[in-house]
Amino acid sequence: MIYDRILITAEQLDAGIETLAQQIDSAHRQTEGLLALVLLEGARIFADRLLSRLSFPVETEYLKISSYRGGVKSTGQVELNLPAALCEKIQGRPVLIIDDIYDTGLTLYSLAEHLRQYKPGSVKTCVLLEKQVPHQKNIAIDFLGFSVEDVFVIGCGMDYQGQYRELPFVAALHPKQLG
Ligand code: XMP
Repeated sequence: MIYDRILITAEQLDAGIETLAQQIDSAHRQTEGLLALVLLEGARIFADRLLSRLSFPVETEYLKISSYRGGVKSTGQVELNLPAALCEKIQGRPVLIIDDIYDTGLTLYSLAEHLRQYKPGSVKTCVLLEKQVPHQKNIAIDFLGFSVEDVFVIGCGMDYQGQYRELPFVAALHPKQLG
């Protein structure tokens, strides 16, 4: 068995994503030009499901950054290479960063700090899961789906070595898989 146990069922995920969409809708319905920055690869499926439920148009950009890079532990380093066209686009815009997991906090913190130099109008964060761990970097999460214990998770876009993103629930990877 690839997973140990299901932490969040497909039904719970659906309800949680709907609640997040309603919260974002209430907060940003009147906001002009919201720019969603979706962190690849893990947040793609979550963001697609979330953004399709909003009642107003959003511009979406995808960014490939993470402190994990395919492993099961943070590398402690975040590489940020934003395309020049995106940096220009950010100026004065309300930005919503969408990520799958708030774990060490390095990814979200580094990106939010990095964006400041491009003078966004505002920066908010939306995260599907917060791991219940002491974060190395603390950052306010404006829209949070669920809290999970400190295990490696798969499903709803989250992977182990590129696999299991398609699982319709969130599960704890079986410890045997980690060797
Ligand atoms: P940090 O530590 O920077 O991590 O907050 C955020 C990124 O790390 C990845 N991550 C995971 N990916 N299962 C995954 O598939 C996990 O349990 C896990 N924990 C962290 C993820 O890409 C996240 O954006």
